[in-house]
Amino acid sequence: MGFLDGRVAIVTGAGRGLGRVEALELARHGAAVVVNDLGTTLAGTGHDASPAEDVVAEITAMGGRAVAHFGDVADWEQSADLVRTAVDEFGALDIVVNNAGFIRDSMLQKMEESEFDDVVRVHLKGHFCTIRHTLSHWRERWKAGGGEPLGGRLISTSSEAALIGAMGSGNYSAAKAGITALTISAAREVLRFGCTANVLVPRARTRMIMSGPSATRFEQPEHGFDTFAPEHVAPLVAWLASPLAERVSGQVLQVWGGEVTVYERPRRAFEATHEGDWTLEVLDDLLGPFFADQEPVVDGFGL
Ligand SMILES: NC(=O)c1ccc[n+]([C@@H]2O[C@H](COP(=O)([O-])OP(=O)(O)OC[C@H]3O[C@@H](n4cnc5c(N)ncnc54)[C@H](O)[C@@H]3O)[C@@H](O)[C@H]2O)c1
Repeated sequence: MGFLDGRVAIVTGAGRGLGRVEALELARHGAAVVVNDLGTTLAGTGHDASPAEDVVAEITAMGGRAVAHFGDVADWEQSADLVRTAVDEFGALDIVVNNAGFIRDSMLQKMEESEFDDVVRVHLKGHFCTIRHTLSHWRERWKAGGGEPLGGRLISTSSEAALIGAMGSGNYSAAKAGITALTISAAREVLRFGCTANVLVPRARTRMIMSGPSATRFEQPEHGFDTFAPEHVAPLVAWLASPLAERVSGQVLQVWGGEVTVYERPRRAFEATHEGDWTLEVLDDLLGPFFADQEPVVDGFGL
């Protein structure tokens, strides 16, 4: 018996990198998987069917069930078709792992409008489209089932860039912060369907990370534990997708190597009150000492 026997999953961007190992892990635990991948370059250009087809072949070779889907997750019709494919091929949709995306890094002072629009589109609108179409499927199923909990799972992919910023990828940081807010909102909406929504913050050696300034930190060691192997991320996705995590929703979790972290929701770090109108002097008297003690965020990855 697998933890995900009888469940049907979509993993977007599953032809390579993290999505590939996540699709394989869900299949290993018994899920039937729709392997979505448009097959783009790192910068999001072009199309290639082979990454998704290769992962489907890997899953079927190990005795699992999978179909390929080559749609663009941020296209309204193609993402609706993605959800329909899961339902038509396997009878329903239970688990959606939103992972697809690409980067177009540039310092904000030089960033082109298209670099901002395209990156926000693929990550944030890509998450919105699949979540939106999945929720309408879940609503219909929930009503047809007389309000029985569905046990559905939404797993979104954010980044440390959304939590602490990143030099040269303000477009990506903004999209990933939007994904976090979207998913926490989704967690509230899916509660009545008996479903959960959580945010994954991965760290792994993929083509995306190896194209960036921190690539040397992610290289495979010649001996010993391979901290940044993408395979260390996938079990957390399967755990969140499984009934074991039915009480976990609206959370932000990070995993890499041998470390797993649950982030606290934003909470008040400092509070002060004042009677009467605010002036800059009053604000400075109250806030100045607090900020004088704070460390500014300087090191993106904190490694
Ligand atoms: N690797 C890391 O350390 C890291 C850290 C934080 C967040 N992430 C996030 O993890 C996710 C996976 O990244 P990765 O590192 O595996 O990158 P990757 O480039 O190896 O894989 C991304 C996949 O998404 C596909 N894709 C791109 N645009 C698509 C679209 N419109 N529709 C469908 N598929 C599309 C690509 O073809 C590619 O196969 C991304 O959302 C990324 O931002 C990765």
